[in-house]
Parts: sequence; C-alpha cells; structure tokens
Amino acid sequence: MIIKTIGILGGTGFVGRRLANRLAGQGYHLKILTRDREAHKENLILLPNLDLIETNVYDESHLTEHLTGCDAVINLVGILNEKGTNGEGFKKAHVDLTRSVISACQSLGIKRLLHMSALNADTSGASHYLRTKGEAENLVHEADGILTTSFRPSVIFGPEDSFFNRFATLLKLIPGVFPLACPDARFAPVYIDDLTSAMAQTLKDNNYYGKRLDICGNEEYTLYELLKFTVDCLGLKRMIIPLPDFFSRLQAIEFDMAGFIFNLLKFEKPFSMDNYHSLSCDSVSTQNTLGQFVDTPVSIKTVVPQYLKDKSFRSSYTHFRRSSRRSH
Ligand SMILES: NC(=O)c1ccc[n+]([C@@H]2O[C@H](COP(=O)([O-])OP(=O)(O)OC[C@H]3O[C@@H](n4cnc5c(N)ncnc54)[C@H](OP(=O)(O)O)[C@@H]3O)[C@@H](O)[C@H]2O)c1
Repeated sequence: MIIKTIGILGGTGFVGRRLANRLAGQGYHLKILTRDREAHKENLILLPNLDLIETNVYDESHLTEHLTGCDAVINLVGILNEKGTNGEGFKKAHVDLTRSVISACQSLGIKRLLHMSALNADTSGASHYLRTKGEAENLVHEADGILTTSFRPSVIFGPEDSFFNRFATLLKLIPGVFPLACPDARFAPVYIDDLTSAMAQTLKDNNYYGKRLDICGNEEYTLYELLKFTVDCLGLKRMIIPLPDFFSRLQAIEFDMAGFIFNLLKFEKPFSMDNYHSLSCDSVSTQNTLGQFVDTPVSIKTVVPQYLKDKSFRSSYTHFRRSSRRSH
C-alpha cells in the first residue's frame, strides 16, 4: 500500500503532536483536522508538510471534504471526562465520531486506519469511558473495506503528558496532605515515543491489519507508587493518604457534584465517578505487544524526573487549563 498523505483527528493533543512530529519527519504529508486551529497552531504549523485545518469534525460532509486525497487516517480523539455524567459526551466523542470517520473513509475509498483505543476498552467495561472506547474499537474492526490497527495503551507518559503533569500541578496546589482515591489501581506506563514508534511502524505493515494491540511499558506500578514517585521527583514534602474504597467513591461523587464549577472555571474535573469505575480494573496486560516494536522501552525513572523538574508552577497551571479542553 502506498501512503503519502495522512489525515489525523485528535492530532493536536499530547499523543498527536508527538506522532505528527515523527510522521512529518518521515516525509508524510499530514492533514490535521481540529476544532480550534488558533489554539493549536503554535505547536504544529512549523512542521514541514502539515496542513492544520479547522473544521467541524462531527460533520461527516466536512470530514469527507478535508480527508479527500488522504491515503490513510489516524483517529486519536478521546476524552477522559465528559461535562455531564450520563455517558452522552463519551458516546459522542468516541462512538459517533468514529462512525463518521468510518463513513468518510468508505466513501473516499481510504483503506488504512489507525485507531486509538485504550487498555481494557470493552463494550461491557466498567465505565462509560471503557464501554464507548470498546464500542468504537469494534466498529473500526468490523467496518467493510477498511484495514484497521487499533492501539490499546496503558497510561502514556512524556513531556506534556496529562498524568504526571496533572498530579504535579495538584501536588503543588494542595499543601501538606494529599488524599489519593483508588491507590491500588495498577498501571504499566508507556513512553510516548515508544508508542508513536509502534504506530508509525504498523502504518504500512500488512501484518498488523486487523490487529488490536495492547501497548504497555515493562514496569508496573500502583497509583500510590506513581504519586509517591511524582512527589519525590518534585522534591516536595507531602503525606499521601491512600483512601479506602468508600472514601474514593465519595471523592468521585463530590467532584462530579462540583462539575459545573470546574466547567465554569474551564478546568477538567480532577476525578469523577467514571474515572473511579475505570480504575476498578488494572491498566496492565498479559498481551503486551510493545516488544514487537521497541527493544528497550523507556522507564518512567529515566525521563519523568527531568521534565517535572523543568516545570515552573506557572507552566503547570497553564497545562492544567489547557487540559480542560479534553472534557466536552
Ligand atoms: N494520554 C493517555 O495516557 C492515554 C492512555 C490511553 C489511551 N489514550 C487515548 O489516546 C488518545 C490521545 O490521547 P491524548 O492524551 O493525546 O489526548 P489529548 O491530549 O486530550 O488530545 C485529544 C485530542 O482530541 C481532540 N478532542 C478532544 N475532545 C474532543 C471532543 N469532545 N470532540 C472531538 N475532538 C476532541 C482534541 O483535538 P482538537 O481540540 O484539535 O479538536 C485533542 O487535541 C485518546 O483517544 C485517548 O483516549 C490516552
């Protein structure tokens, strides 16, 4: 299959920017579709062979117009929180949008699709996030005429991630004691460049058509261990209080109830009932495929201390505000 031009949705986010860098460097022409060109242009327009196109990504006719000429499409759109709590926001961003992407690809004859899912995505998953991710994943693999590879990562880390950076911001904001919900949830963090390397390698490789790839780092940690690690990286003195299940639920309910305040302030909710449910299953896998693409996965210990140390309070605050665009 000859692939020269790639259409990317969600290409302005943490994963998208890094992937776009890699693919532009490999000589692909990229068309990144965004809901807000102005907000993202400083991060992307300097890349060679890249068109950053503002459009209504939910309108299929707009997708068809802007994906014309693409040989492959990459869909990275995903949200961790919705404005409400009934799952409609997740359905819109994960399922409805994916349906439109599939239809646009089919009508344009675009055969190759890379789709970003998540570890534990499953139509019978524990949260709206996981169920809608699972539904979308099934849709892309069942779509006629499309050769899909889907990626199911655990938490992804790297400069500008929304995991360590968000915890770092919260830790700086909250002095003394930090109550941590779901402290025993397990993760296998994967480094952003290892993930994007895997994605780029699969693009033209027919061995990966139709494959659903779990992508994890080599090390597993509990949420408590990751938070403790973040505290140490920042050189802060904080007492982390691991919350038992009842209080973890309570914290989620409280943040959900305060959701409208976060919406008003344009901050993403730090935690929600849906997050609580997602964390009820460990984000680790016995079918990790990262070793097929990367010899030595990068460890959190190698890079996280570096990028957390470089962050001033002001830049972390800016990150927190920017990440609010993730919830819709
Ligand atoms: N980061 C992780 O640890 C992690 C772990 C597992 C899976 N994933 C998945 O990986 C993908 C990329 O994650 P990321 O960390 O790069 O996310 P991100 O930084 O929040 O970027 C996601 C992009 O999707 C678009 N988007 C956000 N909300 C949208 C909405 N309601 N409707 C339409 N488009 C919307 C945005 O693009 P515009 O604003 O330009 O439209 C945004 O740049 C997501 O699908 C996520 O679920 C991430």
